[in-house]
Amino acid sequence: MLVLASGNSDHQQRVIELEPPLVDALTNTEPLQVLEIGNGSGGSGLLILYHIWKIGKGHAFTTVDRNDCPKLILEWAEKFKVPHSHFKLDQQQFIEKLETAYSFIYLDADHRETEVKQDALVLGRQLVRGGVLVIDDVNEWKTLPDLSGVGLTPVSYDVDQGKTRGEHGQHVVWWKRA
Ligand SMILES: C[S@@+](CC[C@H](N)C(=O)[O-])C[C@H]1O[C@@H](n2cnc3c(N)ncnc32)[C@H](O)[C@@H]1O
Repeated sequence: MLVLASGNSDHQQRVIELEPPLVDALTNTEPLQVLEIGNGSGGSGLLILYHIWKIGKGHAFTTVDRNDCPKLILEWAEKFKVPHSHFKLDQQQFIEKLETAYSFIYLDADHRETEVKQDALVLGRQLVRGGVLVIDDVNEWKTLPDLSGVGLTPVSYDVDQGKTRGEHGQHVVWWKRA
């Protein structure tokens, strides 16, 4: 499953970096919603669906992208019998209307520093206890956001250690609500 997910992501390392925070959140939260903003070809979504199924608590999956939902996600949500909804919306449009509580949020769409830092504060407030927020491709940002004001603690700020972690370097940061 990891190979299939990696093969459908624009770089394999993203999928590998996503697994530890995802498993942590699914293990330590009630079965609520899991959210991915920015679906690409569906590789990271497939990994999320696989772990929802494997951990088996009944989490549901919401995807958001300005494009249609990748077929891979539609196909595997059905195979794994994971409740799934897709919102074909711009990131900021979706976040403006955010009301639901989430177990896990993976943000991999808009990568602009100022805009995504604002979005991270809004998204962070919606996480339940044990929930995790992951933001991808923060390696070009001047600073990383302090989300302590919305109750989130950084777990891994291990950004851009270069090629020691693979060709792409580590680009993922994650926070957790303790
Ligand atoms: C890097 S790809 C996501 C890759 C995916 N997470 C994976 O690893 O398989 C970025 C996606 O975000 C979407 N996107 C970029 N900016 C966006 C925005 N402002 N609002 C909604 N979607 C956006 C693009 O359409 C694209 O599908």
